[in-house]
Amino acid sequence: MNSALFNLNAAAARLATFSAAVQLGLLDAIDREPATATELASRCGANAKGVRLLLAALVAEEIVTELPGGRYQPTEPGMASLHPVLPMWDHLTETVRTGVPAVDMDTPDTATEMYPQVVTSLAAMWLEAADRAAVILPPASSILDVGAGAAPWSIALARENPESQVTALDLPAVLVSTRRAVSAAGLVGQFTFLPANVFHDPLPECSYDLIVLGQFCHLFDAATCADLISRLSQLLNPGGQLAIMDGVPGRPGAAVYELSLYLRTKEGALHPLAEYERWLRDAGLTTKTPVDINAEPAIMLITGDNQNTPTGGNPHRTR
Ligand SMILES: C[S@@+](CC[C@H](N)C(=O)[O-])C[C@H]1O[C@@H](n2cnc3c(N)ncnc32)[C@H](O)[C@@H]1O
Repeated sequence: MNSALFNLNAAAARLATFSAAVQLGLLDAIDREPATATELASRCGANAKGVRLLLAALVAEEIVTELPGGRYQPTEPGMASLHPVLPMWDHLTETVRTGVPAVDMDTPDTATEMYPQVVTSLAAMWLEAADRAAVILPPASSILDVGAGAAPWSIALARENPESQVTALDLPAVLVSTRRAVSAAGLVGQFTFLPANVFHDPLPECSYDLIVLGQFCHLFDAATCADLISRLSQLLNPGGQLAIMDGVPGRPGAAVYELSLYLRTKEGALHPLAEYERWLRDAGLTTKTPVDINAEPAIMLITGDNQNTPTGGNPHRTR
C-alpha cells in the first residue's frame, strides 16, 4: 500500500481509538482506578470483545498500559481532557476556505471555557523540557509564571530550587487547574495564585528574578507579544531574566502546529526567533543564544536579561 495512505489510515484509526475510549467513559474510568477488560465492558455498558480489542489498540498506541493481573491504566493522567480540542480539526476545511478560526482560544472567554480542561495534558507534554529549562535557568528567588496553566515550567523551577517562591498568573477559571497541579506536585507552600487577564488587569505590584512566558506568545500577534514583553520586563529585578519557552517556525512539528494555531486563534502564530530577540532587546534586555529544549514539537528557550544594577541607573522600576 502507498505509505502515505497507510500512514493516514493509521492516524485516523489512532484518533478513532482514542475518541472511542473517551466517549465510552473507559479512559475516565481507568484514570480513577485501573480495571480489567471485563470490568470495563460492564462499567461502560459496551461489548466485551469490542472493549478487549479497543484496549489492545490503546496499549499498542501507548495511550494505556496493561498492569499485572490484566488491569489497565492510562499512560498519563488526565488524557481524556484533551478530547474536546480534537473535534476542531473537523472544521479545517471551513477555516481554510473562510480564514475564520473554528474556536478563538486567544480570547479570554474561550480560554476560560477550554483551558481548564486541557492544561493538565499540555503540561504533561512539556515535563522533560521543563526539567531541562529548570536546570539551564539560573536559580531565582521570585518567579512570575504568566499564563501558567498547569504550571509545568514553574513547578520544575520550584522543585529545582526549593527556596523559590512562584506567583502563578492565569485567568480565574484556569487557576483551579493550576492549584490542582501544584498541590499534586506537593509544592503549595512555594506558590501563590494570581487570577488575572494579563492584557487587561494591572500587573502585580512586585518585582521578580524570573518571569516565565511558557507556550503563551504563540497565541497572539506580534504587536501584542512585543507590548507584553515590554510591560513584563518592567517587573524584572536588576539581574533578572525573562524566559520564553515556545515553538518557532521551520523546526520539527512546526508546520502542523502553525496549522492548529490558524484553526484555533485569530492571530496566533509561531514567531521567528529573530522576532523574539528583537522584542526582548527593544524591552531593554540582553539576549543569549536560544537553547533547544524539546525535540518534537521543537521548543526553544529564549531569554532576555535585565543587566542593569540598582546603582547603575536602572531604568526598570524596583518595586
Ligand atoms: C497554551 S496554554 C500554556 C499553559 C502553560 N504555560 C504551559 O506551557 O503548559 C496558555 C495559557 O495562557 C492562559 N491565558 C490565555 N489568555 C490569557 C490572558 N489574557 N491572561 C492570562 N492568562 C491567559 C490560558 O488560560 C492558558 O493557561
